[in-house]
Amino acid sequence: MSSVTCHLPPVTFPSTRLRRARMQPWLRELVAEHRLHPSDLVWPVFIQEGKNQETPVASMPGVSRITLDILVKKAKKAQALGIPAIALFPLVDAQRKSPLGDEALFKDNLICRAISEVKNTVPELGIIADVALDPYTSHGQDGIVENGKILNDATVEILCKQAINQARAGCDIVAPSDMMDGRVGKIRAALEAENLSDTLILSYAAKYASSLYGPFRDAVDSAKYLGAADKRSYQMDCANGDEAMREIAMDIQEGADLVMVKPAGFYLDIVARASSAFAVPVVAYQVSGEYAMIKAAAANGWLDAQAVMLESLLAIKRAGARAILTYAACDVAKQLGR
Ligand code: PBG
Repeated sequence: MSSVTCHLPPVTFPSTRLRRARMQPWLRELVAEHRLHPSDLVWPVFIQEGKNQETPVASMPGVSRITLDILVKKAKKAQALGIPAIALFPLVDAQRKSPLGDEALFKDNLICRAISEVKNTVPELGIIADVALDPYTSHGQDGIVENGKILNDATVEILCKQAINQARAGCDIVAPSDMMDGRVGKIRAALEAENLSDTLILSYAAKYASSLYGPFRDAVDSAKYLGAADKRSYQMDCANGDEAMREIAMDIQEGADLVMVKPAGFYLDIVARASSAFAVPVVAYQVSGEYAMIKAAAANGWLDAQAVMLESLLAIKRAGARAILTYAACDVAKQLGR
């Protein structure tokens, strides 16, 4: 965040009329403090097995789960629109899920195939892969469970292997979204030990136990596995801000290259605090529920989806985000390009 050093003369009317600089479109352009650009955006994509299929996600109008042949084409288009990176989220078939999420470590799994196909066809597009077990576990938790408890250290060991698996497949950035303690340091060490020192870590450092993830859990079909359980023993309590600063500080110390605040729109105070407190790029995730709310209101004719989307993203940027994950990335990049 830019901080204004105030050595201004006393602001008095009528010598100062702030409306003067708002009178013309060119003036507003000239004095704009923040701008949205396609290069600010990361596009999260849901992928599924099969060929030439797009499955619309009901709770996310305009978003579909896609097969890898379509992914490759859309990735090329996204890159041409100026979007620097995509984030991949797999739908894992029910029979491949297990209590320990073994599928995550399989080198031919859906996400690894997606990574290598996109890398082979659009090498200049960045690829981010989530490190967390929830797509792969039969209970829908991000970690492994024993007697109803999520085991931290045992989960971290598996996450290290998952990160290495994805990095070997060619992903540029691994993004631990699991919120286990100490995982960034362990993953960094594991990557170094495997000669994967160029792989970046984007840590979901301040990830809240939010009620805004519902549409995402529809998209990757994890809601029914999670059932009535929740993730509050590892994701953060929305009451807390100082704790987010501790999470972020620890992840940076452990080797995170970029840190994430998630969700974005309800947590702009956290985005602002993080970006002024730490000299590390802060990434914000406009999550599925934020997207769904805008789209649902627009479908009712209550809001202008395009305008509200631009406003929400610019607000996230103004708060201090260096980059934003948004399901609207391609639409927004097209709009900005016009
Ligand atoms: C899981 C994960 C979630 C999201 C990204 N990675 C959901 C969850 O924690 O249950 C949510 C993203 C969204 O809602 O758009 N590790």
